[in-house]
Amino acid sequence: MCSIGAGDSGIPVRIRPVEEKDRWEVIALGSREFPYIEHPDAFFLERMHRYYFFIAEVDGKFAGFIDMEPSLEDEHTAIIAGFAVRPEMRGKGIGKKLFEFAIRFLRATGFRRAIIYSKKDNDVANAIYKKHGFQVTKEHEGILKWEMEL
Ligand SMILES: CC(C)(COP(=O)(O)OP(=O)(O)OC[C@H]1O[C@@H](n2cnc3c(N)ncnc32)[C@H](O)[C@@H]1OP(=O)(O)O)[C@@H](O)C(=O)NCCC(=O)NCCS
Repeated sequence: MCSIGAGDSGIPVRIRPVEEKDRWEVIALGSREFPYIEHPDAFFLERMHRYYFFIAEVDGKFAGFIDMEPSLEDEHTAIIAGFAVRPEMRGKGIGKKLFEFAIRFLRATGFRRAIIYSKKDNDVANAIYKKHGFQVTKEHEGILKWEMEL
């Protein structure tokens, strides 16, 4: 388990591996933010158990999640696949802390490269990726592919 809080700027955020009790919060936020996923219950339940899936908590309450998976094309590459903060908790630095945790986690796990896909008009997410050193390596039909050496 990892936590970030005391000594860091902003509100205390605890970051921990996903647990069974998080399932409905994850599905609710995931289906809201990624409505193109056809069967969000099955989709997120599978991801929670199969990949690197972490939760942000503030005052013991679910605030958001980030999940990562190894690329099928290259074992040294990880894809940051899902990243979301509850709408009412945005703009407080929670997303940034989740994202920075994910990068540290991927480095510590031995991955050498990270990839993220985003919509071109997702200004908040794209600003986070750029600020943390990701570069756009591809753009297709409004979707950006961001990559970074870890
Ligand atoms: C992307 C997301 C996870 C960010 O979470 P968050 O907790 O609101 O982010 P933070 O509060 O940590 O802010 C991160 C940065 O974005 C900036 N930011 C926040 N709101 C912003 C806005 N409306 N416009 C531009 N920048 C903004 C912050 O200033 C901060 O940058 P800084 O560190 O330079 O000050 C959140 O917006 C979200 O859940 N969006 C919907 C799902 C989504 O789009 N996920 C990404 C899919 S690719």
